[in-house]
Amino acid sequence: MSRHILITAALPYANGPIHIGHLVEYLQADIWARYHKSCGRDCRYMCAIDTHGTPIMLRAQAEGVAPEELIQRFHGEHARDFADFDVGFDNFYTTHSDENRALAETFFHRLRDKGHIQTRTVEQAYCDECRLFLPDRYIRGTCPRCGAKDQYGDSCEVCGSAYSPVDMADPRCAQCGRPASRRSSEHYFFLVTAYEEMLRRWVSPDHLHPHVVAKLQEWFKEGLLDWDFTRDAPYWGFKIPGTEDKYFYVWWDAPIGYIASTENWCKREGRRLDDYWVSDEAELYHFIGKDILYFHALYWPAMLAGASFRMPNRIWVHGFLTVDGTKMSKSRGTFINARTYLAHLDPQFLRYYYACKLGPGTEDLDLSLQDFIARVNKDLVGNFANLPSRSAGLLAKRLENRLGRLDSGARTMLAAIQAAAGPIGDAYEACEYASAVRAITAEADRLNQYTEATRPWETAKADPESARTALTAVLNGVRLLAAYLGPILPRYPEKVARLLGCPTPDFTNLAERVEDRAIGQYDRIAERVEAAAVEAMIDQTKALQADHAAAEE
Ligand code: 2FM
Ligand code: ZN
Repeated sequence: MSRHILITAALPYANGPIHIGHLVEYLQADIWARYHKSCGRDCRYMCAIDTHGTPIMLRAQAEGVAPEELIQRFHGEHARDFADFDVGFDNFYTTHSDENRALAETFFHRLRDKGHIQTRTVEQAYCDECRLFLPDRYIRGTCPRCGAKDQYGDSCEVCGSAYSPVDMADPRCAQCGRPASRRSSEHYFFLVTAYEEMLRRWVSPDHLHPHVVAKLQEWFKEGLLDWDFTRDAPYWGFKIPGTEDKYFYVWWDAPIGYIASTENWCKREGRRLDDYWVSDEAELYHFIGKDILYFHALYWPAMLAGASFRMPNRIWVHGFLTVDGTKMSKSRGTFINARTYLAHLDPQFLRYYYACKLGPGTEDLDLSLQDFIARVNKDLVGNFANLPSRSAGLLAKRLENRLGRLDSGARTMLAAIQAAAGPIGDAYEACEYASAVRAITAEADRLNQYTEATRPWETAKADPESARTALTAVLNGVRLLAAYLGPILPRYPEKVARLLGCPTPDFTNLAERVEDRAIGQYDRIAERVEAAAVEAMIDQTKALQADHAAAEE
């Protein structure tokens, strides 16, 4: 039976631009979705903008706009960034939707009916001036460990230690600078501890990478904590049913947004939500970064189980992006926005480079700018782009632009390339993109060796038909490579299809051969990247940062 697959990527917040760090995940999940689609499976890739919470509320206030307006602006910007990087969501929805509100309430009611929601009194930092309960990131004060001044309420940027704002001697409101006071109110807690046994069973290599399992086991050892998912007014989000001044914390309705996005898509497409989120008919996969593991691997499965939804098949957890070996940095110009990248470089380069370096584990991925230039020029341009352009060029120039027939040597060579589909597909399925790229490169090498051995450039004059056969073989080989690279470089199979006048190469039509026909024009997939373009991108990022800093003064 054909597989039905639902994929999600973490929902980007509506208060900042998409940058190349975010793109690691959106591209990793996109490659996975495109691979499954390429195999002819019913595969859907869901996302939405994450719209609630204090930072979004305060930013809208600072800009003097309604939060809805801010959300809409970022929704448009994000959607354009994703489209331009060929991130092919089946739905890019919003958590500020009727579907999501209804679902957030359904989860609440079902968990409460089970007795798994409890109220407790909580004392929190409060600013009397701003009349706001202060989230940890909105508190500044002296680090209780190292004494560094002006640190956030939850962790110190100087010594790296984590703490609670109660431990600070002088907590202040980050907005207005007044000393924070304390205030009690009633909060709702989700009794995650009631799900501990179920979670301990679920946390296994069947669903998570072994390193992730190890991390979660540490958390079990430290002891699970019940989760306070309430925030007091003023807050921007969904109100908790039956209350006037309590809201769901943004992290309650964010993952529920995966379901709401699917529901919205189902309505449009005439599908049934339960087939994806209740029955096991479909497979469910989440892609996330390691920073949001606690929410996705502990709270979320407990919420799903408690509210009678299905569990995910797997959570793929990736590491962070570093640039030239260090954290992305505003001052070094390496905190590069998607839009800034696009102004200087081809999106295919980043898709290819990330794929070359991605595996299923949580190691950080390093974008080394020199290595980026070298790999793109050598492999992507020098190999994958040049193979079809040289062969199609020679056919056009010397051989009336017509393919001939394959001989047995050519068929044997193509059969060998086709036989690589198994291991390449397995590598994609296992999120081992670096090995997929290596295996595809080995097949390109095979094609280059065949070209070296048959020398169509030399025989084109004296023996045009043997040159035609060789070039027909090479272009059929390119068709296979394009199918293999399609998940990473979706424009490549489309261009090869136009050149050869055949259906778009994918994993379902590998056995087809294209022979004996006039071919079209080859539109190159990529041109060389110049170091100057990379430098210009870094310079523009620095300039944007300087503008921001000046605007904030
Ligand atoms: O960490 C973040 O950027 C969150 N906006 C991710 C939410 S993912 C999901 F739970 F919605
Ligand atoms: Zn204040």
